[in-house]
Amino acid sequence: MCDDELIPPQADLTEREWLRAGSEATAGGPPMRTTGRVPQWVNRRTLLGGAMAGAALTMLPSPAQSPASAAPRLGGPGAFPFPEHPNGKGEFAILVTGDAGTGDEAQYAVAAAARDLCRSEGIGLAVGLGDNIYENGPESDDDSEFQDKFEKPNSGIDVPWLMVLGNHDCSGLIPGSGGDPSRGDREVAYAATSRRWYMPSRYYSVPLPAADPLVEFFAIDTIPWSSYVAQLDPHYRWDGPYMREQRSWLDGALRASRAQWKVVIGHHPYLNNGKHGSAGSYDGFKIGNYTSGVHLKDMYENVVCGRADLILSGHDHTLQILEPTARTGGTRQVVCGASAKTEDGTAHFGHPAAWQNFSDHGFMVLKVSGARLTIDAYTVDVATRKATLAHRTRQTRPVAAPAGAHA
Ligand SMILES: [Fe+2]
Repeated sequence: MCDDELIPPQADLTEREWLRAGSEATAGGPPMRTTGRVPQWVNRRTLLGGAMAGAALTMLPSPAQSPASAAPRLGGPGAFPFPEHPNGKGEFAILVTGDAGTGDEAQYAVAAAARDLCRSEGIGLAVGLGDNIYENGPESDDDSEFQDKFEKPNSGIDVPWLMVLGNHDCSGLIPGSGGDPSRGDREVAYAATSRRWYMPSRYYSVPLPAADPLVEFFAIDTIPWSSYVAQLDPHYRWDGPYMREQRSWLDGALRASRAQWKVVIGHHPYLNNGKHGSAGSYDGFKIGNYTSGVHLKDMYENVVCGRADLILSGHDHTLQILEPTARTGGTRQVVCGASAKTEDGTAHFGHPAAWQNFSDHGFMVLKVSGARLTIDAYTVDVATRKATLAHRTRQTRPVAAPAGAHA
């Protein structure tokens, strides 16, 4: 089961206001025990996991660098190469994982099961959909957690991993708050030293193959639009320069893409039948600029829907292949966040689904050819470390024509 119970008392509190509100709520009750700066009630009742964040909001670093548009394919020394040709089945096969960075047995089991499939499925690329380093994100550019919660579990899955930032990767005072986006820069910096971890900037695109792309991935940073708390750094405000630049970049990159298939990868989903709910009403909040994800909803609806074939997301620790609808402009939402944690077994919302699972660990494999796009969903038995193909969805018609198609 998932232990994520992060629900602020109100939308758009600062972290200090949230902590103060919790302190007042416990006044008159039993004495509050604390672990460092964060009261223990936060760990027990409201936090995603319970450890204490390492960075104080009063010590926010300076704004992060603005990313380039199309990222150069640079990685660490000896970085595993991107596939430039389809596998023996005529497809590009991509492993999709999410919310994996616990370092515990379940992460190892899911990775082991996926590793077994890599050769038979000809997997040449992997995706990590955020919450890469639980609970607080990395404490430095070379934090040992990168080894313990990524490199060691994924040893043998020797392909580039397209990584995106999750709310835990950008924790402020409260683990999982998303209150310190600048913390994500450590994951960008780490990519320069890893053979697997690919994150050349906080958002980026990767066309495959590079010269004449069949599919293009657009990795986005959803955190400042959907953090549990208000952003204090003006750079990362919902209407600040960073999010304006990212939205403009994504709009232009989708328009310019020459790929037949387009896949947006971002931690927070547009639509979601799991307990966190959908953008614009995350965790029951429908007001404010942050907690509800209202601006992420607006971005998905005005920039992504009808222009990308897939949105791949995590955040909810479930496996969902939702159906494309008129509302989504034909874009399909996929949630794949069960690579280390699971949920309560219950569908909380009723968006049409081709298949969904709210109780098992698992991962997916995306297979792309000129003729079709295939999503295989696998559940994993942690005890035996074995994967079972639970569902297969295929689609044959791209949502949008590539740039230049009608020239
Ligand atoms: Fe998350």
